[in-house]
Amino acid sequence: MNKENARKRIDKLVSDIQKHNHNYYVLSNPVISDYDFDMLLKELEKLEAAFPDLVRPDSPTLRVGGEPTKYFDTIEHKHPMLSLSNTYTFDEILDFDKRVRKVTGDDVQYVCELKYDGLSIGLIYENGILKHAVTRGDGIRGDDVTNNVRTIKSIPLKLVGNYPDYFEIRGEIFMTLDGFREMNLNRVNAGESAFANPRNAASGSIKMQDPKEVAKRPLDCYLYYIPGNHLNIKSHYDGLLYSSDLGFKVSKNVAICRNTNEIFEFINDWSEAREKLNFEIDGIVIKVNNISQQKQLGFTSKNPRWAIAYKYKAERAETTLDSVDYQVGRTGAVTPVANLAPVQLAGTIVKRASLHNSDIIKSLDVRIGDYVFIEKGGEIIPKIVGVNINKRKQDSQPLSFISNCPECGTILTRKQDEAAHYCTNEDHCPPQIKGKIEHFISRKAMNIDSLGEGKVEILYDNGLVLNIADLYNIKPDMILGLERIIPGKEGKKDSRISFQQKTVDKIISGIEKSKDVPFERVLFALGIRYIGETVARKLAYHFKSIYALQKATFEELTEVDEIGERIAESAINWFSKEEHINLINRLVSSGLKMEISSEEADISDLLEGKSFVVSGVFTNHSRDEIKTLVEKNGGKNTSSLSSKTSFLIAGDNMGPAKKTKAEKLNIPVITENDFIEMLELDNK
Ligand code: IVH
Repeated sequence: MNKENARKRIDKLVSDIQKHNHNYYVLSNPVISDYDFDMLLKELEKLEAAFPDLVRPDSPTLRVGGEPTKYFDTIEHKHPMLSLSNTYTFDEILDFDKRVRKVTGDDVQYVCELKYDGLSIGLIYENGILKHAVTRGDGIRGDDVTNNVRTIKSIPLKLVGNYPDYFEIRGEIFMTLDGFREMNLNRVNAGESAFANPRNAASGSIKMQDPKEVAKRPLDCYLYYIPGNHLNIKSHYDGLLYSSDLGFKVSKNVAICRNTNEIFEFINDWSEAREKLNFEIDGIVIKVNNISQQKQLGFTSKNPRWAIAYKYKAERAETTLDSVDYQVGRTGAVTPVANLAPVQLAGTIVKRASLHNSDIIKSLDVRIGDYVFIEKGGEIIPKIVGVNINKRKQDSQPLSFISNCPECGTILTRKQDEAAHYCTNEDHCPPQIKGKIEHFISRKAMNIDSLGEGKVEILYDNGLVLNIADLYNIKPDMILGLERIIPGKEGKKDSRISFQQKTVDKIISGIEKSKDVPFERVLFALGIRYIGETVARKLAYHFKSIYALQKATFEELTEVDEIGERIAESAINWFSKEEHINLINRLVSSGLKMEISSEEADISDLLEGKSFVVSGVFTNHSRDEIKTLVEKNGGKNTSSLSSKTSFLIAGDNMGPAKKTKAEKLNIPVITENDFIEMLELDNK
């Protein structure tokens, strides 16, 4: 294709893809299939690779994330990024309305909106193209997080319709609730710490250094404010409609209210309805609708006088802290849990609250016998938010975190940069063993669901299954007739778990079936810290068998794509224990899959001992596909050239420095076709 035709096709693809993105992420109304969408994107990628100087600044291919940055530039806000004054009562809203009417007279309308609980962001567009995305910072200057924000699919990279040369709009970036829950589940499965709430997760994500990681986070953005009044827009509501026309995601959950009663109605409706939203809100924002009235009212040094936030009160109660228990999780993380004098809160009786970790205990300075305030936030278990110091007993002592594991006595350790204390006795500490077995049988691991719902605990407590390998020694008569009665809570009926013939048959066949589970899931099921589902798959494909993985050195591990030092250390540490090797041997003799099966991997050892650097963009395969082919055929992928590199597979758009370095090191530079031929030779 000649350059002029390429330019035309690129323009068409960019604008089509932008439209499809808008349909999907902003309007939730896709008009083509995911497959067709991917095909358009692939075509664009290919053309951009062939004509790098035709890559447009608003290209949707930029969404996958650019290069990591160590520091963010700071940018001065053209208009200070102010916050809203908060109120908690309807009386304060009546006062606000009076203050407004004094200035505007009685002809005033308000717009009520949801108050999204995330982080505020300013988006600047020049000639319709997203130029900067800036955090609040100190209100005067914020961080330029454009590369990270570009990965949020509902934020347009290019505006549509009738936009001015310069346009700034502000809104809130947040994490969806189902996305947040799934992400936390995956993190915990991989032995990482969970985020406390969606707001922390969203602001943590936006401050990450690697946009590719940000691209994986379930972020979204609602826009709600055009600062500066530089457009000829008459009302805030019209501003929202205009923003929507430009392609922004604007909430439909807004209402024009003509008096405070209508405002109260909106607040009351959403105080219940907010439970059904797929994101968190912490209140309602009330804004004067008419822009010239907004101008009349102006700003204080901190807030606009034309808007106010009504915050929903987190329901709060006061009670005493009786004692603190320490719970040990599957990964050995120790969580302090407060035992409280029972108290009514938001419709339930609360007896326990999370204290999270030793830093939180320290910062609250909470002591046994204290009167404490507890709140129910988005999380299921309530938290202690403060201490009523006035009621503190004179002789109370600061709480000191335990130094030994409450379950097995092992001295606890705490790693730098981590908030949690850990019990390192992973193979002999009862809750850790039970947790490991439960993880092993879970759906994404060995999927032995007939052993769920407390059955593992019964087997463990009866001394029948003390580790995962013991599962494969279970015989029907060992477990037939086992039972446990679980006392019902708060006056509810007791329940009973019993191992009757039918249950036993299901368990035995479930265990038998698990022997067909492919190696990558077996590896995940072992529950090695930081080896979550994705990492397990990567390692399984790369090393192909548990034996190769077991022998891998730190260097060999970190050479694998996306395997960092933390994972490598964890794997080496795990395989260095004799007990684990015995465990593997027992699992092998029980018939579990410990290597990638040949049809699954289509493997050869043709590239054994060879290492490859894959760089640039290719015509018939994606870079990842080429890398997978390298691994499936026994080769190794590395990210940078060294004297050990066997081949550089060069696509279009590869930096000239790489080529020079390869030449200097005498490394053969081959094309995609050369590489494919290399593989096909073997198949003949
Ligand atoms: S308007 C000049 N509208 O709440 C005021 N803010 O403390 C511009 N927020 O900084 C803000 N939802 O981060 C506005 N519908 C909404 C909002 C909203 C959430 C955040 C925003 C703001 C803070 C107020």
